[in-house]
Amino acid sequence: CGIVGYIGDKQALPILIEGLKRLEYRGYDSAGVAVHNGHCINISKTKGRLTVLEQRIDPNQLQGTLGIGHTRWATHGEPSDINSHPHTNQSGEIAIVHNGIIENYMKLKDWLQKEGYVFVSETDTEVVAHLINYYYRGDLVEAVRNTLDKIEGSYALGVIAKDHPDCMVVARKDSPLVIGLGDGENYIASDIPAILKYTRRVYLLEYREIALIRRDAVEIIDQYGKKVQKEVFEVTWDVESAEKGGYQHFMIKEIHEEPKALRDTMASRIVDGKVNLSDLNVTREQLEKAGKIIIIACGTAYHAGVVGKYVIEKLARIPVDVEIASEFRYKDPLINEDNIVIIISQSGETADTLAAMRMCKKVGAKVIAITNVVGSTVSREADHVVYTWAGPEIAVASTKAYTTQLLCMYMMALDFADKMGRISADEYQRIIEEIRKLPELAQEILDDKEIIQRCADETFNASSIFYMGRGLDYAVAMEGSLKLKEISYIHSEAYAAGELKHGTIALIEEGTPVVALATQKGLFEKTLSNIKEVKARGAFVIAVAMEGDTEIEKEADRVIYIPRVYDILAPVLVVIPLQLYAYYVAVAKGCDVDKPRNLAKSVTVE
Ligand code: G6P
Repeated sequence: CGIVGYIGDKQALPILIEGLKRLEYRGYDSAGVAVHNGHCINISKTKGRLTVLEQRIDPNQLQGTLGIGHTRWATHGEPSDINSHPHTNQSGEIAIVHNGIIENYMKLKDWLQKEGYVFVSETDTEVVAHLINYYYRGDLVEAVRNTLDKIEGSYALGVIAKDHPDCMVVARKDSPLVIGLGDGENYIASDIPAILKYTRRVYLLEYREIALIRRDAVEIIDQYGKKVQKEVFEVTWDVESAEKGGYQHFMIKEIHEEPKALRDTMASRIVDGKVNLSDLNVTREQLEKAGKIIIIACGTAYHAGVVGKYVIEKLARIPVDVEIASEFRYKDPLINEDNIVIIISQSGETADTLAAMRMCKKVGAKVIAITNVVGSTVSREADHVVYTWAGPEIAVASTKAYTTQLLCMYMMALDFADKMGRISADEYQRIIEEIRKLPELAQEILDDKEIIQRCADETFNASSIFYMGRGLDYAVAMEGSLKLKEISYIHSEAYAAGELKHGTIALIEEGTPVVALATQKGLFEKTLSNIKEVKARGAFVIAVAMEGDTEIEKEADRVIYIPRVYDILAPVLVVIPLQLYAYYVAVAKGCDVDKPRNLAKSVTVE
């Protein structure tokens, strides 16, 4: 989501709308504004893109020089007018905008309801408005501070109140927030591009800081109420690169968001050492009766499904078919009402995936969706939805959506295995502990990417690049190869390493790059032999292996190490160097990375 705010002597509304336009890439399923007219707060908000809000707004109703605005990417509660921000307390005297996820909102909501508070939306954010009201005794900063002590999760918040026409209060924890400094006026925004038109002087709010913003002053305190002295940050970027957070492309920005996306996706679902998929209501009886699970998807989501098959079969010992949606829908599939179907779709709108899902529903099978877009067609039509909380993905080539889809597959596999009694308590705990480390380990890969860049520089002129691996490495090889094809236009294929000698090895010539994945313990030696085979035909081998498996250096030309992790979880980490590799190759070739030719982010036609 994106938030903006203004306090000064100009009309707030046009500034809010202009800022929201610049933030729309952060979410676009609903939008809204709240403006203080000196006496009370008026709000206009709606489901849909910002243009819908603009059409609906009556500027006469929204006069005032203090206001906040929001563009939403739904996490809790489908996109609707009611669920849009700003949210208010019951009397409408306190209005807030929020970016983030309040993890303990259910508990707080129960408690507030017992205290007599009435909720109108399904959002996690509404509890914050009521809580501020609960603690409000005339001091808005104090009320916000008390509220923040109660909430768990991530947030950037903007708050205005009827009694305070001369200030707004903002706070941040994990979600970003900047304060733009003007002359007799000040701004807030989720990120710099929203306010770059007005000022280049900003304060970057840090973890758990709160700011009281007036027309001519900004006071910042930390979580203990202690005053913070901030340095002014002078922005030197242009608007376009600011939108990308200073990155050259959305794709590389989104790759760097993977640790956070993983963290968000597991937050509130791994609680006290256990998977808690309350959104997924599958019983032991249903699993026993299912006979098989069918995973259906297209493109990158299909590749996440291939990993899902390995993992569910290994942990829960339930047979899994993975199907390409466009094939499944025309093949008179073997499916019955007891089967469990998992639909994976980042957008939730892919035409073939929707058609396949509807076929499964018609048979009466139980349909679970994994999607990134709350309120998407898939999310509305499936029986149960497990959301990936990756945030909007703008680059056509999918990155953070894939890693979070994998994470959902792991959590589901563990849940199924546990319900079926097919996993020991020790093994279960071990996997949970390792899952929790993934965001941190993903970050380590991002912090050390020079070697990947070097590999890209050495190979970007190739006419063909092959990928190979065994087991889970093979599943990830497919995704790595797809990434490369999509954005660099280099011909590429992924092979099960043991299958290479049955044909494809004929294509290996002197200097042909082969990306060999060797992270699976029991298969390491086997993959090593396959590396020798292609080396003997002249291949230039870039290997990806786990830290410590240095033996591979004897065979491969280059080795990219990923941090050591339980090998069943390796795909989440292995794919990151492959995404980076594809990215750097495409950049070296001068390709349009974010909008590759002939491709669309969401294919809503057959
Ligand atoms: C398009 C995109 C791919 C994506 C596929 C499935 O082809 O370019 O990146 O993997 O659709 O999209 P979905 O939204 O269903 O995951």
